[in-house]
Amino acid sequence: MKKIGVIGFGTMGAGIAQTCVENGYNVVALEMEDSYFERGQAGIERNWNRAIEKERITKADKEKYSKLLSLTTDWNQFKEVDLIIEAVSEDMDLKKDLFKKIDEVAKEDATIVSNTSGLSITEIASVMSNPSRVMGMHFFNPVPVMKLVELIRGIETSNETYNKSKEFVESLGKEVIDVNESPLFAVNRILVPMINEAIFVLSEGVASAEDIDKGMKLGANHPMGPLSLADLIGLDTLLFVQDSLYEETQDSKYRAAPLLRKLVRAGHLGRKTKKGFYTY
Ligand code: 3HC
Repeated sequence: MKKIGVIGFGTMGAGIAQTCVENGYNVVALEMEDSYFERGQAGIERNWNRAIEKERITKADKEKYSKLLSLTTDWNQFKEVDLIIEAVSEDMDLKKDLFKKIDEVAKEDATIVSNTSGLSITEIASVMSNPSRVMGMHFFNPVPVMKLVELIRGIETSNETYNKSKEFVESLGKEVIDVNESPLFAVNRILVPMINEAIFVLSEGVASAEDIDKGMKLGANHPMGPLSLADLIGLDTLLFVQDSLYEETQDSKYRAAPLLRKLVRAGHLGRKTKKGFYTY
């Protein structure tokens, strides 16, 4: 695989694109409008400038990486890509529409993966004429730092698709775990209800946000507290993911904390809107 297409340039799409160009891949990233690239571009720029300051990369490296990344709103740019990584928001209808479009545009032997946090790969792939070339490739935020990628096969995913995907992920210096298709896969199935529980603990007045986070950092050795992590992931994504776990399982233990829903309704989505459980 030489040329990678990334659909969606939000937190995850931009992180994936950054990681790919840093590993020598040519990347074309697609968004609906040019302005949707601004936040992701600024984030990548900040990361590279910080890496230059810390002497982890040189200015020449930054220039080389920038040249490998092109941004477009034109689907025709996707005709020649070898791997398409879909990283749009967690909306099944939206993903299916995009996969239909991919089916029309992509070359026949391109591999198509979704970075969904836990939606059914089988359902997403069902709109494709050849679902065997589709699978889940789930990255973690912040993508350039986090070492893990979950690989999820849909019911039709071929061994060839799996092998190509695994080889690609390992070429990025990341490790894979294999996960059977199941709501939220493995890591989020454990992590997201833990964060949701922290939000219940906050809203029940058991402890303050600062103390919940301090407690989980110092008492459980987590690198950051669950409410800070919620702000990093994005409260809208978190709510989508928690709701989909509840909807799929119909198990009341997975109901979303009402405070999470309220914050999302208020437009307080965490770091990306500068306000969530904390103000940035
Ligand atoms: N992009 C790129 N690099 C970043 C970054 C970002 N957004 N944030 C931090 N970094 C880099 C820094 O440059 C630094 O690199 P260096 O050591 O080479 O200089 C390194 O990461 C450490 O950063 P900091 O010193 O600023 O801060 P911390 O040591 O506190 O680390 C953290 C920050 C990596 C975010 C750490 O707190 C952490 O691992 N937190 C937990 C993250 C986590 O659990 N993610 C999973 C979320 S769930 C998910 O993504 C699934 C989805 O489907 C919902």
